[in-house]
Amino acid sequence: MDKIYATITAVGSFVPETKLTNKDFESMIETTEEWILTRTGIQERGILKDKDKASSYLGTKACEKIIQTKNLDPKTIDAVICATVTPDFVFPANANLIAYNIGATNAFSFDLNAACSGFLYGLTMCTSFIESGRFKKILLVGAEKMSSIINYADRTTSILFGDGAAAVLIERTTDSECHIKDSILKSDGIGADFLKMKAGGSMFPASKETVEQKEHYIFQEGQSVFKYAVKCMADVSAELMARNHLIGDDIAWLVPHQANKRIIEATANRMAISMDKVMINIQKYGNTTSATIPLCLADWEKQLKKGDNLILAAFGGGFTWGATWVKWGYNS
Ligand code: UT7
Repeated sequence: MDKIYATITAVGSFVPETKLTNKDFESMIETTEEWILTRTGIQERGILKDKDKASSYLGTKACEKIIQTKNLDPKTIDAVICATVTPDFVFPANANLIAYNIGATNAFSFDLNAACSGFLYGLTMCTSFIESGRFKKILLVGAEKMSSIINYADRTTSILFGDGAAAVLIERTTDSECHIKDSILKSDGIGADFLKMKAGGSMFPASKETVEQKEHYIFQEGQSVFKYAVKCMADVSAELMARNHLIGDDIAWLVPHQANKRIIEATANRMAISMDKVMINIQKYGNTTSATIPLCLADWEKQLKKGDNLILAAFGGGFTWGATWVKWGYNS
């Protein structure tokens, strides 16, 4: 019997139409359009304004696009997995809500929290699920309403994040060349205090004090995270390439997490990959946490060719980080 591999067969994305621009921030906090652009590469970010909608709505929209493009019967989906740090509720899981919304009535569904590395963690997990032979079709979606945990009076974090979602369909293939090839995932709890949302969990449940102390918002020690991000993303990508005997010239695209354009440039530089082979869309969306990498795949889908080597790399809260080698499996 042919060996079963896992491959991405479709991508779909959804970003809210309402944009918060750098200019908008000039009237909200002490900053300038120019500071934000030069220090982060961001120009605008999508914001989900509707009070009655949250990240599962964005994730549902992204998955619906895949269902339409592939003319997929949702009842054939075996699992829906949602990577998110901003689920609609602590429980039930966003993935349960998304599976229900899209009519994936035969799927099991759950959320995965690995912050900005959530999509890569999910991709490795889905690959193992598919390769086990037990499952045929899995929807993996990164969905975030980051605006729900942002203190818009804090100039060090508010400018960075945006709302959005993107999903991939992962299926079986017997193509021994083009599939999700390899990955290295890492974590280190030393990072727990550098990037966190302090309250709202079982350690500090919501209270009058936690609200007054603004502890339901993202806290980030930007400079420390920056340094770890560049080193860890480059190191893990280099390790993955070395163990698979890949050199810079073999790589068609580096698909990095979009947290800061300067982090992306420094990572590409350390990996000796030229910038024309690096996917960057941070200017349009800001940092959408678990959605950044699939949002890149969606934006570049038309340019991807069967056989292209992609290195996906992420770094985020936890700390969590990792890299995945994908040999792209289809032409659009
Ligand atoms: O996705 C999860 C992983 N997250 C990341 O990878 C994010 C990593 N960190 C970063 O991207 C950057 O550290 C930031 C964009 C958050 C900050 O950029 P930076 O170049 O590291 O700035 P900084 O923190 O060193 O601050 C430089 C100056 C400070 O002023 P002083 O102390 O030098 O007078 C800040 O107060 O810039 C000031 N500043 C601002 N000025 C204008 C900080 N935020 C702003 C702002 N507008 N929005």
